[in-house]
Amino acid sequence: MDYGMKNRLSRIISPKDNKTVMLAIDHGYFMGPTGGLEEPDKTISPLIPFADSLMLTRGILRTKINPEFNIPIVLRVSGGTSILKEDLSDEDISVSMEDAVRLNVSAVALSIFIGSAHEKQSIINLSKLVDKGYKYGIPVLAVTAVGRDMNRDSRYLSLACRIAAETGANIVKTYYCDNFEEVIRTCPVPVVVAGGKKTTEQEALQLAYNAVNKGASGVDMGRNIFQSEKPLSMIKAVKSVVHDGLDPKNAFIEYSK
Ligand code: R5P
Repeated sequence: MDYGMKNRLSRIISPKDNKTVMLAIDHGYFMGPTGGLEEPDKTISPLIPFADSLMLTRGILRTKINPEFNIPIVLRVSGGTSILKEDLSDEDISVSMEDAVRLNVSAVALSIFIGSAHEKQSIINLSKLVDKGYKYGIPVLAVTAVGRDMNRDSRYLSLACRIAAETGANIVKTYYCDNFEEVIRTCPVPVVVAGGKKTTEQEALQLAYNAVNKGASGVDMGRNIFQSEKPLSMIKAVKSVVHDGLDPKNAFIEYSK
């Protein structure tokens, strides 16, 4: 791995503790104005100092994020569908690597849809993105999107994460599940977990704690932070769990102060 790739990866996952809190705000690429992100800058700007990186689209990056914020960017580069469609798996690469370079991103992110109608297309897209990523020294994060008909269990998620890693992804983002240690054991690259739909703050903190304790490199969390009643308190609490190993009970006490 060359210098540029290693350098960018170290901006995403801190070499100090091999952990990361990525703040995901890319939902609009297929969901439009998602709750909490109607005016993303208003919600997100106060949170940026507490996130290790920001995952978003180039449209929101260019229009809403101050370029002087020194926050590593994970750029969503897959798209092509909307929530109005039954099948969300028909995605393609939607941003050139040259534009990602222009935006000085630390990684690019693309979804794969294992078991879906467009499984092959999404894996080949990942493969092409990884080739381009190595050309420019930009790491690729693969998101294991889970279709409505798929079970979010360790068997399915191990399959999806392993395929992502075998295809060349440098980081994999997936969901937490029972027997999560099996997902970690069989995936040779760092795994981060998504938060999923908004739950209670206690549940989201417990999820982050469980994931990290079973070997995740951290979280790539969105709705459970920016849809929280207190987004700033929530990102601080998540950070304490991921980086300081604070248990969820005490993290919730921190959140509630
Ligand atoms: C989903 O397609 C997006 O990539 C989100 O970044 C991801 O689901 C993480 O956000 P959340 O914690 O809200 O699930």
